[in-house]
Amino acid sequence: GMPLRAAAERAHLKFGTAVNTTALAEDADYRRITGREFSSVTAENVMKWEVVEPQRGVYDWTAADQLIDFARAHGQSVRGHTLLWHNQLPAWLTQGVADGTIDSAELREILHDHIKTVVTHFKGKLYQWDVVNEVFNDDGTYRDSLWLQKLGPGYIADAFRWAREADPKVKLFFNDYNVEGVNAKSTAYYELAKQLKAQGVRVDGFGIQGHLSTQYGFPGDVGANLKRFADLGLQTAFTEVDVRIPLPADATKLATQADYYRGLLSACLGSTSCTSFTVWGFADQYSWVPDVFDGEGAACLYDESYRRKPAYEALRQELRQG
Ligand code: G3I
Repeated sequence: GMPLRAAAERAHLKFGTAVNTTALAEDADYRRITGREFSSVTAENVMKWEVVEPQRGVYDWTAADQLIDFARAHGQSVRGHTLLWHNQLPAWLTQGVADGTIDSAELREILHDHIKTVVTHFKGKLYQWDVVNEVFNDDGTYRDSLWLQKLGPGYIADAFRWAREADPKVKLFFNDYNVEGVNAKSTAYYELAKQLKAQGVRVDGFGIQGHLSTQYGFPGDVGANLKRFADLGLQTAFTEVDVRIPLPADATKLATQADYYRGLLSACLGSTSCTSFTVWGFADQYSWVPDVFDGEGAACLYDESYRRKPAYEALRQELRQG
């Protein structure tokens, strides 16, 4: 049948996956499916701070550049993930902040240097960047990260300004989870987007991760949420979709999972602002989910033996209809 990327192209949508670059190097089936099914790739880990700047001022682009080469060879676009997060920071940075050898002024400089260097390195090679990742709590208050503690909330505007200076063309995104529907967290992003716009700081897009669990129900108001960001002039994107189910999987759970995947894609296809739909990996054996959620998993489109699940067929059907 028609690969997802071909069906998506007819719907004017980029259809992406996160890529585990170790699997890409070692697993031929994984490599083949990545190239065949997807028109966009996101580095699952290898563009994160701890990987690209393991020592202060010493950058390692090896793994990220290999992914970009793969993407180019397969006619794929690349999403950048992520410039600023509270996780997967290098030890030199977190320790330096903790023991006081890096003060706030220096931390701000370090952040500026990092964003400038990374965005410049990838200039012209990416179509979207997740500039700030997961900066709000579910209740809409700012996440209490080292960035907030040391720099105050203005670090978010700074990050967008610095990224923009380094590459005026790439689309700059917020990115977070639990923001599919209209809720306190997505509203915090909506208000921040308005505020930044009023300050003259351009944000291009709102990235909705889309890590769902069938145990929590399908989020309401997804279409209305996309629409309010579109009305502000922002693009939207589903950036990390997966749908975990209680293990073991069975036909009923897999059917529910397929409905959830389809529900997010349908909202995306229903909005002119929604430019890409990315799954957070496609093969269960490489998924982050079972490591983090006890008793849940089987969250991807393919099982451990690369058999397509009902969710795969549901997405393809939705693309062809939508
Ligand atoms: O690289 C080390 C390796 O040297 C070591 O031997 C091994 C032992 O644990 O760990 C390896 O690091 C792991 C890393 O992935 C690379 O494989 C970390 O333990 C592991 O925690 C890390 O998990 C990643 C997670 O982000 C970290 O927060 C997942 O792969 C990745 O899928 C996940 O992705 C995030 C998005 O960036 C943001 N949104 C949520 C999403 C899911 O958590």
